Amino acid sequence: MNNLRTSIIEIKKRCTQAINSSLDINILEQARLLFLSRKGEVASLMDCLKKLSLEDKKEFGPLLNELKEELNHLFHTKHQELLLKEFQEEEKKDAFFDVTAYIPQQTNGSLHVYTQAVHEIQNVFISMGYKVMDGPEIETDYYNFEALNIPQNHPARDMQDTFWIDVPGLVMRTHTSNVQVRTMELHNPPFAIIAHGRTFRNEATDASHDCMFRQLEGLVVSEDASIAQLIATMQLFLRSYFKKESIKVRCRPSYFPFVEPGIEIDMSCPFCSSGCSTCKHSTWIEVVGAGLVHPHVLKAGGIDAQKYAGFAFGFGLTRLVMIKYGIKDIRLLHNPQIEFLKQF
Ligand code: PHE
Repeated sequence: MNNLRTSIIEIKKRCTQAINSSLDINILEQARLLFLSRKGEVASLMDCLKKLSLEDKKEFGPLLNELKEELNHLFHTKHQELLLKEFQEEEKKDAFFDVTAYIPQQTNGSLHVYTQAVHEIQNVFISMGYKVMDGPEIETDYYNFEALNIPQNHPARDMQDTFWIDVPGLVMRTHTSNVQVRTMELHNPPFAIIAHGRTFRNEATDASHDCMFRQLEGLVVSEDASIAQLIATMQLFLRSYFKKESIKVRCRPSYFPFVEPGIEIDMSCPFCSSGCSTCKHSTWIEVVGAGLVHPHVLKAGGIDAQKYAGFAFGFGLTRLVMIKYGIKDIRLLHNPQIEFLKQF
């Protein structure tokens, strides 16, 4: 029985020491697991009680209970003490938090003005039931010219100063009209699509020209597509893009080999009524090339020209953005000049 007595004294000593020397809650928890948990050393001592005689039980039962209670009490007191300590340390940290400390300046990114314009314009057309298409920037002679009724040696090829690629038969697309026949091959009429993207022409760069600019193309093919629908669509679109209900449109005859008749659409100047620098003092601004899709083009796209008609339009997205925001130099748009671009 002396053994048991020594064990009690010994465990009490070690457990008290472990609890008292715990520097934080985690270490204290280790001590609790070792001595006071269900499989801890105190519980094992309790198990020894079962084997004792009645008399010994009477003697050691209360001793062991006392040991358990004492150590548990010690544990809880220490636990409270450490919690309080942690809390006070956190508070101390907050008290020394320097609200005037330097924080590196955060700059927010934003969408390029082109991207914003594309989103706005796409929304207008999507609300009218158009789908958005995409076409390749490096295009075959066929889709850029041939299928659009511009055969080899046609003088209209000279109007579009083409970048030819070393690979025969490939060009940097000169307009977004390359999507027209591609779309017809993919979709059965009726359909209405827009496609926007980069176009390339071998031009010397100045304030209003660049060898790369952006266009936006539209194509509608249905049984009753008409010039009237085309003009109404352009008027609705221009009014909503420039956020001005009073914008009017007018048409002038023009020539593009892939439309017949071909027209150019002007809009009344959104900024003045009697002439300003934007409209070159004429109150009208040339914006869109358009027309009814030529039967040769419908045929190239596998569409029955007897049954279906189409209208197409194409405008310089670059030009429209420049007009809307009064940007006088195209190069500002195409260079990564953050200070300039941040304005939009
Ligand atoms: N592709 C023509 C251009 O680049 C514009 C256009 C598109 C004209 C569709 C008529 C129909 O100038």
